[in-house]
Amino acid sequence: MTSVISAAPPATTAAPRLSTRFTEAVGVEYPVVQGGMMWAGRSALAAAVSEAGGLGIITALTQPTPADLVAEIERARKLTDRPFGVNLTILPSINPPPYDDYRRAIVDSGVTIVETAGSSPEPHMEFFAAHGVKVLHKCTSVRHAVKAEALGVTAVSIDGFECAGHPGEDDIPGLVLIPAAADALTIPFIASGGFADGRGLAAALALGADGINMGTRFLCSRESPISDAVKKRITEASERDTRLIFRQLRNTARVARNSVSDEVVRILDHGGSFPDVQDLVAGARGRRVFDDGDIEAGIWSVGLAQGIIRDIPPAGEIVTRVVREAREILARELRRFG
Ligand SMILES: Cc1cc2nc3c(=O)[nH]c(=O)nc-3n(C[C@H](O)[C@H](O)[C@H](O)COP(=O)(O)O)c2cc1C
Repeated sequence: MTSVISAAPPATTAAPRLSTRFTEAVGVEYPVVQGGMMWAGRSALAAAVSEAGGLGIITALTQPTPADLVAEIERARKLTDRPFGVNLTILPSINPPPYDDYRRAIVDSGVTIVETAGSSPEPHMEFFAAHGVKVLHKCTSVRHAVKAEALGVTAVSIDGFECAGHPGEDDIPGLVLIPAAADALTIPFIASGGFADGRGLAAALALGADGINMGTRFLCSRESPISDAVKKRITEASERDTRLIFRQLRNTARVARNSVSDEVVRILDHGGSFPDVQDLVAGARGRRVFDDGDIEAGIWSVGLAQGIIRDIPPAGEIVTRVVREAREILARELRRFG
């Protein structure tokens, strides 16, 4: 199939504003969000997305301490005076990070948009509401989105089966998940998982979403702080080059297909349990992939969208290109059918 991206001229100038309920709710120009990404969601990337009119998000837990997070937020402020957010991923853990201290660092730094993910935002809602923080909760099912709406979040980001990282256990792709969410929610929501270009944004809007969230597309951008070898691998990989690990543990994660993810799936398929794969999936090994560019060193998150990503542009150009393409597609189709 011909790529809309490759057919389009390089995006150098910003597209006209594209307002939706989401852009109004969070105060950005375009309904394009760069979701939190462990190790990659740092200031340069988040600021580039925000500076272009999207919503960039710094990943709190990528910073080793809350004080480091404060410094990272300050670095982003030097790069843009436009709004950006911070992702707080809350997962059950034997030694949980000091979530309350990270939370405090976020509000003390004056950040007013937080992307929560991993588990219910309920324990944090009162604190964030008291400090005027808008919560964008990311979840993978309509029922969790409805619950988040009842808890008072400003908007929901709903991650379909296509997404990098944790797609949940329901296996519902965006084509059904997005309109189902549109039917069930009254607050603004953005579609996530499998989006990489303007065709995706146009489709998401048509399905009833108020914008899109992208991870893999921004992971493969110039400001993404990972090895060029990994970005190159993404541009060469197909949509078939991911694997779902931890299915048996009901903690499914979509990661790149490589010798390590193949081995993890094989061990768990043959009756193995978490301790049997613990060393293979160690965070330090995944970190080596991003830092050293050794794509076989460990497991690393990537989504099906890699099958339609063929270049490594600046993150700001991704934002303007996606918006411009979506506008062109919507205008063209309106001329044809309107
Ligand atoms: C390398 C990588 C790391 C990620 N880490 C996190 C994370 O720490 N917290 C989180 O909420 N989502 C994380 N995500 C998920 C993204 O925020 C986003 O929801 C997802 O990538 C959307 O699917 P897509 O990759 O198809 O665009 C990560 C994604 C990638 C690619």
